[in-house]
Amino acid sequence: MSDAASTLPPRQVTLPDDLAAAIERALAAAPRQQWQREAQALSQRYRAPRAGDEPPLATGRDQALGYAALIMPATYAQLRGALAASAARIPEWQPATMLDIGSGPGTALWAAVEQWPTLRSLTAWEREPAFITLGRELTRGSTHVALKTTQWERIDLLRAPSASGQRYDLVVLGHVLNELAPDLRGAVVADAWQRTAGLLLIIEPGTSAAFPVVRAARDQLLTHQAHTIAPCAHDQPCPLVNDWCHFPQRLIRPPFQRQARGAPSQWEDSKFSYAAMARFAPPEQIWGRIIREVTSNKAYAEAKTSTRAGITTYRALKRHKEAYHYLRKLPWGGAFVQPPAPPIEPIEHERVPE
Ligand SMILES: C[S@@+](CC[C@H](N)C(=O)[O-])C[C@H]1O[C@@H](n2cnc3c(N)ncnc32)[C@H](O)[C@@H]1O
Repeated sequence: MSDAASTLPPRQVTLPDDLAAAIERALAAAPRQQWQREAQALSQRYRAPRAGDEPPLATGRDQALGYAALIMPATYAQLRGALAASAARIPEWQPATMLDIGSGPGTALWAAVEQWPTLRSLTAWEREPAFITLGRELTRGSTHVALKTTQWERIDLLRAPSASGQRYDLVVLGHVLNELAPDLRGAVVADAWQRTAGLLLIIEPGTSAAFPVVRAARDQLLTHQAHTIAPCAHDQPCPLVNDWCHFPQRLIRPPFQRQARGAPSQWEDSKFSYAAMARFAPPEQIWGRIIREVTSNKAYAEAKTSTRAGITTYRALKRHKEAYHYLRKLPWGGAFVQPPAPPIEPIEHERVPE
């Protein structure tokens, strides 16, 4: 096993200074108790199971502020993690145009320009006017020209304009599919793919409930000959059973998020599930990726991985000191280019379907 560390997302993420300052300015203009209350109510709504046909989760200025204070930092971190893992597989790729679908206050725009400063033309589609207003205010405070000149469009995805028009190098569906009724998601994914010239990133919270949404979208895109950039090492349906594929991204919490959450901890590990699907294949294959935190005990260390051959758990016995310590230190989310060599042994295996 090698190269696990070289294809890792950033160890920890902080909001860009200009974004944090812009959110602080917006929050300062509203009573603190109000956005704190809205943030906590929103957090509960986002955690509750959804069928997809409920009223919008966030509407109006106070709820948009609550979102920016509490949820946006976490989704920003998740997006940074997924974009970095994708970029690691396609180091030469340099997108210039981007469409953020269901943009909220523009979280993915900020994460994408951080990952790819080559982006020069950004478009955000959002249904809720309060998010568009807030998103505009935030991007106006940016030091990045592309962010400042973002084109904000009020669009309901369920009535999106025909996809015969413009295509974008990068398209993001960030934390939006899970808000839609299940029978409407397929059409939104198909439409997003039609608008994708390069890479389509689908990302949802890393929960057992949201992972199937990502898996279904990836399965759908595979039938359109999409290539998997990350996290999977192959272009077959995911063989994972009784588990969900998700990854952590550490976020250094901005002070306003700690206030909104009422939690003193300086950081959180924000979990996400994602599929980065492209119109081109990555230049080099990987053998697999670590899809759970590596565990260890007095006898052995174990790493659950998704590989080109299937889901494989590798084990190193403690008496094989070097292999044991090597496996124990491998990071969750790290990709590796070669199958592990003995004395690291596969102990469980679920095959990729033919
Ligand atoms: C959880 S937020 C995600 C915002 C942002 N993409 C992020 O990752 O932080 C989901 C967003 O999708 C928007 N949305 C939900 N249904 C929509 C629809 N039918 N058309 C357009 N936007 C929609 C919501 O208004 C909200 O801003």
